[in-house]
Amino acid sequence: MNNFTYSIPTTIHFGKNQITHLNELKESGNRVLLVYGSGSIKRTGIYDEAMNILKENHMDVFELAGVEPNPRIETVRKGAQICKDNQIDMVLAIGGGSTIDCAKVVAAAAVYDKDAWDLVIHPEYIQSALPIYTVLTLSATGSEMDPFAVISDLTKNEKLGTRAHCLFPKMSILDPTYTFTVSKKQTASGVADMMSHTFENYFNNVEGTQMQAGFAESILRCCIQYGPIACNQPDNYDARASLMWCSSFAINGTIKLGCEVKWCIHPMEHELSAFYDITHGQGLAILTPVWMEYILNEQTSARFAQMARNVFNITENDDMKAAQLGIDALKTFFFETMHLPRTLKEVGITNKDQFEIMAKKAYPKCKGSFVPLSQKDIIQIFERSFE
Ligand code: NZQ
Ligand code: ZN
Repeated sequence: MNNFTYSIPTTIHFGKNQITHLNELKESGNRVLLVYGSGSIKRTGIYDEAMNILKENHMDVFELAGVEPNPRIETVRKGAQICKDNQIDMVLAIGGGSTIDCAKVVAAAAVYDKDAWDLVIHPEYIQSALPIYTVLTLSATGSEMDPFAVISDLTKNEKLGTRAHCLFPKMSILDPTYTFTVSKKQTASGVADMMSHTFENYFNNVEGTQMQAGFAESILRCCIQYGPIACNQPDNYDARASLMWCSSFAINGTIKLGCEVKWCIHPMEHELSAFYDITHGQGLAILTPVWMEYILNEQTSARFAQMARNVFNITENDDMKAAQLGIDALKTFFFETMHLPRTLKEVGITNKDQFEIMAKKAYPKCKGSFVPLSQKDIIQIFERSFE
């Protein structure tokens, strides 16, 4: 196991009616920028609930509405300007990963003199940020309990992740009932995303990390058990609660401590979103089994066989055969049980014109992954995902 530092500074209030904890925002001042998306929080009533609590606590509320899925740098700039013009004390995101990510970079850009995009391409420029609070409404990214934010500049076909310790939310409210209204499509995409975060950590070459592996396997089993229930019974509390906690733990650092590895499916997917603005979790579901089959060989088969046995209950003794059965079981889960798209064509990508440039951009970010990938390998993975 490698050395590590463990520090997750986010306070989590988990469960029904936890929104009352918004009164804790007072600790950070009284001027808050509320950040949200295209209006789902108004339709579900969370907006009114939050506003009432903020008003009762004499908070001055400013708003940044309309954050896009795959949030844009233009929206971040707008939010940072509101903060600067109005001496905002803190940022409150209510929504999914896009809203939270946007709020995080707004919080950093609010205390930065130059352009917000600098903070996306140079994470080391993020020296401080306004306090960040979140109310999560979609289980997927884990942004509610991690130090990352992913922002797009579609004018340049760029979608990039940034990170800083000060981007960990100060407090996040995780009320599973707020996810009852999430559509089947977004529920399934969210499950694919949290499973992908788990896989990205699980497939590493570091010895002596079975505790982390067992934790990862538990997250995967939980997603497989509760994902279909959440799709078919959207208001099943235990399913929504289990998925919500899986989403946070798949990426909050716990399962990668001591076995950190460079991710590679995510950099590849970010190129798909940067060029074609597709839903993150769908892109991951398409690429993951293709990548698994691409890198499966005698050296990697043991970890795949472990996944097959411990996650999918495969009883085959031969590692190579067990590994393939495990990948097949994952495909059945993604494409038949969760009805996720299987090919890039299904998400509207109609030609292969950009594969080369996408591979060129993804390649440096994949360096150091479980199995080294060349640009040619990445092009192959896109090709095999095409149809
Ligand atoms: O726009 P609103 O009204 O918020 O509607 C959203 C949006 O249309 C809707 N939604 C959210 N909560 C809902 C709801 N609809 C009904 N009921 C609710 N309770 O769902 C749609 C998708 O929302 P979005 O926030 O885009 O989804 P998600 O949480 O999957 O976030 C995706 C973004 O996060 C990035 C992705 O790349 C993508 O940009 N990621 C962030 C990470 C991080 N910060 O650590 C890591 C991830 O790997 C990922 O890259
Ligand atoms: Zn992800």
